[in-house]
Amino acid sequence: MSVILAIESSCDETSVAICTNGKITANVIANQTIHQNYGGVIPELASRVHQQNIVPVIQQALIDAKVSKKEINAIAFTRGPGLLGSLLVGVSFAKSFALALDLPLIAVNHMHAHILAHFIDDPKPLFPFLCLTVSGGHTQIVLVKDYFDMEIVGQSLDDAAGEAFDKTAKILNLPYPGGPLIDLHAKQGNPLAYTFPKPQIKDLNYSFSGLKTAILYFIRAHEKENPNFIQEHLDDICASVQHSIVHILLNKLQKAAAQYNISEIAIAGGVSANTGLRKALAERAEQLNWNVYIPAFEYCTDNAAMIAIAGHYKYINKEFVGQDTAPASRMDF
Ligand code: KG4
Ligand code: ZN
Repeated sequence: MSVILAIESSCDETSVAICTNGKITANVIANQTIHQNYGGVIPELASRVHQQNIVPVIQQALIDAKVSKKEINAIAFTRGPGLLGSLLVGVSFAKSFALALDLPLIAVNHMHAHILAHFIDDPKPLFPFLCLTVSGGHTQIVLVKDYFDMEIVGQSLDDAAGEAFDKTAKILNLPYPGGPLIDLHAKQGNPLAYTFPKPQIKDLNYSFSGLKTAILYFIRAHEKENPNFIQEHLDDICASVQHSIVHILLNKLQKAAAQYNISEIAIAGGVSANTGLRKALAERAEQLNWNVYIPAFEYCTDNAAMIAIAGHYKYINKEFVGQDTAPASRMDF
């Protein structure tokens, strides 16, 4: 019998989940809307809102899972990577909670957890598999050999895919986070209306900063002739940008699959919620005989359920950390 309480506070979601014997029995997520009008997350505001949210979110998770504090066996928390001030709230709370209840502490790498979200529900990928982890801060192709034996075989050299979505949204005057809005408009647009240059990187790495600049110049040039260009063509612009990003992502993933001779393919992270990416991945799976694993929407963007499942596997291995563990804005794999 194991009851793990997990805390996620790496960016702008305060989330607490409970994993009871390997099953998620609560996953409470408090989103922060305060950043919407700034075009990105304001770190100082994020940590203040985490501080306000953490206690009620913990209380709600205990109610949802129908467990009392006394029944908890371990506290898992996101150690990093993420915003230091935001991480500090979750890490400090986890440490004091563990101290008060005399419980072991489990430190979780947020990027590992995005991948381990695939072990919450069935079907689960078989080792070794390749996971394209696409979030607001990271774009990685990861060779997953075991639960905590992972190797990055390709990654973005500059902007992350989520950043490419968010920065494009900002150019188009859409609020933060722009990814879901681009996704929404793209559904009504023509993905082949406009074409953007593809990055010329030969290995398994990515680059998205050139695409962002190309979009900026494209919009500026069109707005010179027609000041209402964005409003009149928003759906087509969104569909075309999304099409570009999705194809850049999947072409490298296909190259990695061939290079490592692996047909177990997963996607994870906030951008894996993108409808265009999910559809295009399913199409490639048909063509290439891949077994693909696409997380449920609630486990794509940041959530503590993925921290709880990672905590569950670390609990089995008795991988505990001490009270001297500090948050880390960057973390090795
Ligand atoms: O994994 P995540 O919640 O946070 C980080 O760890 O960074 O990812 C957030 C990112 C944001 O860039 C957001 O715009 C993007 O995921 N995102 C999407 C969609 N939903 C979230 N991007 C494209 N389409 C979506 N439907
Ligand atoms: Zn994340």
